[in-house]
Amino acid sequence: MRDGHTGVRQEFWERLWSTTLRERGETVARRPPNAQLTGEAADLPPGRALDAGCGHGTDTLWLAAHGWRVTAVDFSAAALEHGAATAEAAGAELVERVEWVEADLGTWTPPAEHYDLVVCLYVHVAGPVGELVRRMASGVAPGGTLLLVGHRPVDPATGDPTPAAGQRQVSVDEAVAALDPGHWEFVVAEERPRAAAGSGVDAVIRAHRVSRAGDHDLVLNNVD
Ligand SMILES: C[S@@+](CC[C@H](N)C(=O)[O-])C[C@H]1O[C@@H](n2cnc3c(N)ncnc32)[C@H](O)[C@@H]1O
Repeated sequence: MRDGHTGVRQEFWERLWSTTLRERGETVARRPPNAQLTGEAADLPPGRALDAGCGHGTDTLWLAAHGWRVTAVDFSAAALEHGAATAEAAGAELVERVEWVEADLGTWTPPAEHYDLVVCLYVHVAGPVGELVRRMASGVAPGGTLLLVGHRPVDPATGDPTPAAGQRQVSVDEAVAALDPGHWEFVVAEERPRAAAGSGVDAVIRAHRVSRAGDHDLVLNNVD
């Protein structure tokens, strides 16, 4: 069951997506995929991917077009419908590669160690960031990749608040602290300037899962 705060957030996003996609759906569908995603995922062999908080689905469809089979999760039905309609317009191949799932990322847990790539871009979290990071990370298979991006609330260059002020999005420190270095290797863990002028920086975390939880525990136990 959803708590009251989740209901309010879900209603906020549903209203926002309904209005935006009704008024500017075609413009939104033409938006390019996220540059951090295309940059970081370009060298990965396609497999199973999770796009957690997929929104209107542009990133999901970019992954699908590059051969990934994608589970796209969001709690906005309007956003998911738009993504599915865009996939249909693009052809049967993309339709078959994407499963659109309406679920609350506040509680939804991916199947354990299932995905070769888990991406979670610009999702505002209600609870502790570390808890969401660990839950999303639990879905990454050994050898797989976790890609997290969060818009930071303050522009480090000016000290001014950004449009993300007041939101709780992933930060480099919290993501790094949440992942066990015995299981994860950080390929990228840094703040990068955003392409949109005047909006500060993005926290970008790309982590490679080197082992499954059990393997590491086994190694430590053997050392003891
Ligand atoms: C800022 S948008 C980012 C969308 C997309 N990842 C992107 O980068 O374009 C945040 C998305 O997360 C979704 N979202 C926020 N909180 C959520 C939750 N608790 N469960 C599921 N989806 C959520 C919103 O509906 C929205 O589509």
